[in-house]
Amino acid sequence: MSDQQRLWGGRFSGTSDEAFDRLNASFAVDSRMWAQDIEGSRAHVRMLAAVGVLSNEDAEAIAGGLDQVYAEFANGSFVVQPSDEDIHTAVERRLTELVGDPGRRVHTGRSRNDQVATDVLLYLRDAVDHQLIAITQLIDALLVQAESHIDSLLPGYTHLQRAQPVRLAHHLLAYVQMFIRDHGRFAQVRHGALAESPLGAGALSGVGFPIDRAMTAASLGFAAPTANSLDSVASRDALADYLHAAAMLCVHVSRLGEEMVLWASEEIGFIELSDAFTSGSSMLPQKKNPDAAELARAKAARVIADYAGLQGLVAKLPLAYNKDLQEDKHFLFDAIDTIDLLLPAVTGMLAGAQFRTEAMARACADGYLGATDLADHLVRHGWPFRRAHEAVGTLVRACIARGVGLTEATAAEIALAGLADIDMPDLGASASVEAKVSFGGTSRARVVEQLMAAKAQLAAW
Ligand code: ARG
Repeated sequence: MSDQQRLWGGRFSGTSDEAFDRLNASFAVDSRMWAQDIEGSRAHVRMLAAVGVLSNEDAEAIAGGLDQVYAEFANGSFVVQPSDEDIHTAVERRLTELVGDPGRRVHTGRSRNDQVATDVLLYLRDAVDHQLIAITQLIDALLVQAESHIDSLLPGYTHLQRAQPVRLAHHLLAYVQMFIRDHGRFAQVRHGALAESPLGAGALSGVGFPIDRAMTAASLGFAAPTANSLDSVASRDALADYLHAAAMLCVHVSRLGEEMVLWASEEIGFIELSDAFTSGSSMLPQKKNPDAAELARAKAARVIADYAGLQGLVAKLPLAYNKDLQEDKHFLFDAIDTIDLLLPAVTGMLAGAQFRTEAMARACADGYLGATDLADHLVRHGWPFRRAHEAVGTLVRACIARGVGLTEATAAEIALAGLADIDMPDLGASASVEAKVSFGGTSRARVVEQLMAAKAQLAAW
């Protein structure tokens, strides 16, 4: 590319190598921020006119030109040129074609360094806003299922071994808690690192004109300008905070996806996923594959990598701006796009899922889920817990040897375990869950309490 074509060509006498141009170009990635770039320029120019750095005539000419560039992007008629290295140079180049000299004044008191930092925050703000809604919809779908399954019981697991019965609502509400925290993290990004405007930091040291950074900050919807110009162009904390929150969200979605995959297996059979979120096999006619759940599980790896990628990129950089930072958007946009794809699919999959409560009940009925309840019963009769644990363990071993559940223990087996004098309590799953009255536990009242609290929290958002 010849130096006349480049916005910054003045210092250069030779042409740049094509291979370098290809490496250096970021338009293909950052052009999606066209609306934010133009919005930032509008605010910058209005401010320059207000403080007298630009004449009103120039400012009006630029504003009119920016409106036209905006329209060209919006209706798809914008024609990108080989010299359009990135979205910032593309908009300025087109603006100057349209309005002439005033266009050459738009970059007064501004650098692409503070410009890109601002654009990306504006873009991320929109993404966080709509993803906050998508998280809420996911929570809603879980709450609807939870509400209709307060009295459905399934085994709760530790080490993937049946441990104690729980209400299905309680199990689903565990994910509600995770997603409520995710919502909190997204909201924290929105009102924390995204609240300050880097615009006006210049290339790194500030700007030699009497610009009003508070004015541009306010007109772009930021709470305040950033405090330090070097930090403004060098840091990507808002992106890192977002990617961390995004990775956490995806880890939670992944665990949910994994459970849906397990539950949809013939071996477990706790869930029937709807045809709308499953696919067939090209070879095996009987298959119904839980693809949506599997992909929900898979995406975490990608978004965790995005978070790690950004941190790795920034960690080694000296202050202030370095071209390395151009790569930040790969990680950010990948995570935003992934979550945009993921959440509606997971929400739909959950909303359309049928829980097979009879299979869950069967899994609760046979076995030893009441073992702890029997030990607790002994403790209520004055036994030290450790002795109770030992005696119940002996009884469980005898039952396992005979291939029967705890409730089918014979009088002889009970006597042998040292429990002859004990009135055997109800060891069924219903009695077991009802006994868990501690705050956050799985008794009906506690689960209803939890459900109501979550609904109230959502209603307050
Ligand atoms: N395309 C660049 C980026 O995304 C814009 C900033 C370029 N700044 C510079 N000094 N070359 O980071």
